[in-house]
Amino acid sequence: MDNFIFQNPTKLIFGRDQIELLPKEVPQYGNRVLLVYGGGSIKRNGLYDAVLKQLSLCGAEVFELAGVEPNPRLTTVHKGVEICKKEKIEFILAVGGGSVLDCTKAIAAGAHYDGDVWDIVTKKHFPTSALPFGTILTLAATGSEMNSGSVITNWETKEKYGWGSPLVFPKFSILDPINTFSVPKDHTVYGIVDMMTHVFEQYFHPTTNTPLQERMCEAVLLTVTEAAPKLLEDLENYELRETILYSGTIALNGFLQMGARGDWASHNIEHSISAVYDIPHAGGLAIIYPQWLRHVKDIGLRKLNQLAVRVWNVDPSNKTEQEIAEEGISKLEQFWQSLGAPSRLKDYNIDDSNVDVMADKAMVNGPFGNFKKLEKEDVVEILTKSL
Ligand code: NZQ
Ligand code: ZN
Repeated sequence: MDNFIFQNPTKLIFGRDQIELLPKEVPQYGNRVLLVYGGGSIKRNGLYDAVLKQLSLCGAEVFELAGVEPNPRLTTVHKGVEICKKEKIEFILAVGGGSVLDCTKAIAAGAHYDGDVWDIVTKKHFPTSALPFGTILTLAATGSEMNSGSVITNWETKEKYGWGSPLVFPKFSILDPINTFSVPKDHTVYGIVDMMTHVFEQYFHPTTNTPLQERMCEAVLLTVTEAAPKLLEDLENYELRETILYSGTIALNGFLQMGARGDWASHNIEHSISAVYDIPHAGGLAIIYPQWLRHVKDIGLRKLNQLAVRVWNVDPSNKTEQEIAEEGISKLEQFWQSLGAPSRLKDYNIDDSNVDVMADKAMVNGPFGNFKKLEKEDVVEILTKSL
């Protein structure tokens, strides 16, 4: 294992009706609250009214920023920062999916910075303080509810970057499975693909002696692969939503990454795809991740074989390591396709015309990937095989 220090300060408040704790949590941070949400799903499913009711119980003065887009944009972050500064906001409450949460993190850091918040996203400035914020998560996917990462898109320049700071862990996150009942089938699938890919990203690393980390990853994958098909047949099943919601948090709250740093190259490549084409993050991952696995197959045989046997139930007898690895990758592709995930860039009408542009965007900080360093020609190959 690598040396590590683990600290995750987010208070996780999980389960039915936990929104009732909001009037206890919010006043610890202030009275002037900015409520941040997306394109209207929380108004349609009743959560918006429920949140306002709880906030009124503690006498909060509520300001609003609505309309955070999927793949949240810098322009919306700017609007939020402006409200925070003008209205002297003391606390931000994010209610939505990963995009609303990520946007809120950037607003929280931007509110305490005199320059352009894009400096923070592009790591030209490292925040020294941020507004406190909490979240009510409505979509199981990113893990943003219990991590310090955020991904922001500058649509004008077609750039999408992840950034992070210990200052933007949520103070608390409220996760009630019922708030995810209304997530439609396609976004439920994307969420499942995203959390599975987070686990894979952390499974493939160059560090040795990580047996517990590997088995923890496999446990999350086995749990998700068992629950996901059943959930898609029964979108309002409390126990299945609960299992998937908890899995999404565990997949990216640092628990699986103690003692070893994951690869994360596929996330970098995907961010360059959605920077240009504005496709759902996990739609892109479902397409490129199997191609990344094939690209690293030769150096990843031990783990690929282990995954194939332990997670995908591949029978290894009378097969070469290469055959076992390929069978495992095919099983992953078949699984995602059986859920309805896309498998080719052409599913989003993306052809080869911008492969070079996307590869250049992915390379902006030089070669990347902790399991296998990718150069531009590697990225071009993975994208081309994904067409
Ligand atoms: O905007 P509304 O109306 O709320 O609709 C959203 C949106 O259209 C809808 N939705 C959310 N909850 C719902 C619901 N619809 C009905 N009922 C509900 N309960 O779902 C759509 C997608 O929402 P979004 O927040 O964009 O999805 P997700 O949670 O997958 O977040 C994606 C963003 O997170 C970034 C991605 O790059 C992308 O920008 N990521 C953030 C990470 C992090 N912070 O750690 C890691 C991830 O790897 C990822 O990169
Ligand atoms: Zn992701």
